Amino acid sequence: MLLYNDLFLNKEEVHISHEDRGYYFGDGVYEVFRIYNGKIFETEKHLQRLKRSCEEIQIQFPYTIEEINDKLLQLVQKSFVHEGTLYLQITRGVAPRSHVIPKDIKPVVLAYCNEVNRPLDKMQSGIKAITQEDIRWLRCDIKSLNLLPNTLAKQNAVNHSAEETIFHRDGVITECSASNIMIVHDGEIHTHPVNHLILNGVTRAVVLKLAAKAGFPIKEHPFDLKQLNRADEVFITGTTVEITPIISIDQLIVSDGKPGKITRELQNLYEKLITS
Ligand SMILES: Cc1ncc(COP(=O)(O)O)c(C=O)c1O
Repeated sequence: MLLYNDLFLNKEEVHISHEDRGYYFGDGVYEVFRIYNGKIFETEKHLQRLKRSCEEIQIQFPYTIEEINDKLLQLVQKSFVHEGTLYLQITRGVAPRSHVIPKDIKPVVLAYCNEVNRPLDKMQSGIKAITQEDIRWLRCDIKSLNLLPNTLAKQNAVNHSAEETIFHRDGVITECSASNIMIVHDGEIHTHPVNHLILNGVTRAVVLKLAAKAGFPIKEHPFDLKQLNRADEVFITGTTVEITPIISIDQLIVSDGKPGKITRELQNLYEKLITS
């Protein structure tokens, strides 16, 4: 079952034009939502970010937040997904190929759900990461369909038997190929501030709120590769990875090579939140 513009269709019934600007230019934006227990997690935050992404690239947001919310709830119900993800993208629309943004074209909306289990094993044991220069554009706050640098970076991690790539700009850590990153140093949580260099992660915001409530000191400021390598704990946050510990970086073990105490505590708080 797919949501295609205003219609709920089977996948055989959906036909995307070769002139869709998403296909030519990656001219569109997207969101990935988590579904827990048949309900969409943090819908409002995702939809507000989607609307903002549209505005930043001058795509007319085709619905009100309430209208799109209602459509997504219907989609989840019709898809019978209990635990999984919801993917939603909006492209600028269909027009003959031209770099100039055409006037008066209608955005194309596509959404569907998948049954996906939580990555409990990785959350428990942690994952390996590598580092790489952040070669993306300077508007990483827009959740754009243009993900070539991200997919290349993820593949680079896989080629090095790792699971995630940590980006840095001239040594300053920004985020990862598909997640935000936090480190713990002397009991303090450090993460890059929200600006044009990172995606304002929904999970990042949820985790920082939980951490603040639990009384952990938080510093939203840039930190560098040296601080990363000296960190007591390192973890990533994201809708599908939740809070996943990093246990080695560029083949160097983080601390004792096990997920850290604060990371575990935050995972427990997150677990309580999503099951409440
Ligand atoms: C580059 C990047 N940063 C951060 C995130 C985490 O964002 P969120 O917690 O909203 O899923 C993602 C998620 O896909 C991402 O692609």
